[in-house]
Amino acid sequence: MSLPLSFLLPLLLLLLLLLPPHPLLATSPPQLQTLIPVKPQYHNPNLPRTPLAASKRFEGSSSLVDLRYHMGPVLSSSPINLHLIWYGKWERHHQEVIRDFLRSISPAASPPSPSPSVAEWWYTPSLYTDQTGANVSRSILIASERHDANYSHGASLTRLSMQNVIASAVSAVPSPVDHRNGVYLVLTSSDVVVQDFCRAVCGFHYFTFPSVVGYTLPYAWVGNSGKQCPEVCAYPFAVPGYMAAGGTKALAPPNGDVGVDGMISVIGHELAELSTNPLVNAWYAGEDPTAPTEIGDLCEGLYGTGGGGGYIGMVMKDGEGKSYNMNGKGGRRFLVQWLWSPVLKACAGPNALD
Ligand SMILES: *[C@@H]1O[C@H](CO)[C@@H](O)[C@H](O)[C@H]1NC(C)=O
Ligand SMILES: *[C@@H]1O[C@H](CO)[C@@H](O)[C@H](O)[C@H]1NC(C)=O
Repeated sequence: MSLPLSFLLPLLLLLLLLLPPHPLLATSPPQLQTLIPVKPQYHNPNLPRTPLAASKRFEGSSSLVDLRYHMGPVLSSSPINLHLIWYGKWERHHQEVIRDFLRSISPAASPPSPSPSVAEWWYTPSLYTDQTGANVSRSILIASERHDANYSHGASLTRLSMQNVIASAVSAVPSPVDHRNGVYLVLTSSDVVVQDFCRAVCGFHYFTFPSVVGYTLPYAWVGNSGKQCPEVCAYPFAVPGYMAAGGTKALAPPNGDVGVDGMISVIGHELAELSTNPLVNAWYAGEDPTAPTEIGDLCEGLYGTGGGGGYIGMVMKDGEGKSYNMNGKGGRRFLVQWLWSPVLKACAGPNALD
């Protein structure tokens, strides 16, 4: 449900995924179309493993891949209407990076982004169904945006006050609330402190309470960690001091901003989980619904073939040395974590080499 601080995959996943990179594949990038001026090359950043003990959550867990359906709804109505709340001070070009990522999810985008693409990445969540057999929607629309530049609920938010932020947005809109397809995404600027941010989470998703917001609406929050804890929440665009001392270099972010590029993967993680487990009673692993392990959690820190245990896997690098693993609208590139596929029973991403 929330994105914990570890970048680890448990041993079991490691065994499943730690295939030796195929020498031929490693040197032959996929055919990319004309939007990409520089031929990308897969590279192996070979980040060192972090100690297994850091991942208490998955330690020795055999329920790891026991992802089960708990009979609740998924976000199957199409399109999923995303209501964005920009909380705090945002720069326009940073907002544009995030909007471009969100607009890259729907496959209808024309012209289609070259493979491997964000739309192909969202194919994995769309394989999840509810008890009626309805799949998670393949399309996501930015239905509205609200700017809360005045920090209406302060520069320090709790998990619960996040719902007050949404309540303010809901009450500010004269049109009726969109219960059927609507979900909220709250994005806090780099100066906003959020309960558990950096210490335990980089983002989370949940649903609103009728007593606070008037409705039960699925929502997610993701914070810009750029000033507070980039080495935690914007990894691998920033690395912890002990890793840097060991020679690990941070990867260059594809859109030039550590905090914002780091948010993209967390937004992807939370949207995938929000869609497959919107009321926290659909798809998750583990016995404890208050700490569910969801489709993003299972693949956290994994961005390419061969990844696991702190190594992000094979990703691409552009001519300027910026790392990415998928293409979006208008020539944008993003580095986004993989997601658990219910069909492959493994983590999957569009840049897989096998
Ligand atoms: C729905 O998901 C199932 C797998 O769970 C998949 O076989 C099927 O192709 C999906 N349908 C659509 C329309 O995406
Ligand atoms: C934000 O707050 C300032 C000072 O309190 C006020 O002057 C301004 O009108 C507010 N802006 C909005 C959009 O509410």
